[in-house]
Amino acid sequence: MNTRSIFIIVMAAGLPAACSHPNGNGSETSPAGKTVLSAAALKDAQTRVDFRQHVKPVLETKCVMCHNRKTLPGRMSLENKKLAMARGATGIPIVPGHPEQSLLLTNIKSAHAHVNVMPPVGERITKDELAVLTKWIKDGAQWPEGRAGRLDPDWKPGE
Ligand code: HEC
Repeated sequence: MNTRSIFIIVMAAGLPAACSHPNGNGSETSPAGKTVLSAAALKDAQTRVDFRQHVKPVLETKCVMCHNRKTLPGRMSLENKKLAMARGATGIPIVPGHPEQSLLLTNIKSAHAHVNVMPPVGERITKDELAVLTKWIKDGAQWPEGRAGRLDPDWKPGE
């Protein structure tokens, strides 16, 4: 699948949802939804990052709809711990304890700079969210087993 067909699929899936954000005030804000991080949660995360409270909401609302095996076959998938910590063609997405070696963080800007698909769905990652992900990886990237550790590639705002 080429980038163009991904773009079309993502547009078709994401636009109706994007248009119904109750607080549609720009790309730096989070969409509505029960898993979205509040300002208080972000502040809380500066001392203690929790996967379910702070990390999963970011990855699920902003990354996993594209970074899954179905949408981007052979590319970085963040659907579960095993995939997110396995070596892919370009490196390892998440290396616990080493944000500077984690593809997720090191390649995010360069990877998306030449992709026209950003940001038709979800919203761009904010500086605060990036800080949360960095701290979480630095602290060992604790990722629970089982259902709590599975991210939903079909997540939609408001569900
Ligand atoms: C709208 C779809 C889409 C969303 C949402 C998205 N990405 Fe991507 N991302 C892509 C595509 C397509 C590529 C492949 C770019 C290329 O190399 O041509 C990519 C590549 C990457 C890469 C490089 C992977 C590699 O193998 O080098 C990283 C890292 C990355 N994305 C991180 C993220 C993070 C973190 C988020 C969430 C904040 C995110 N992306 C959200 C579409 C998306």
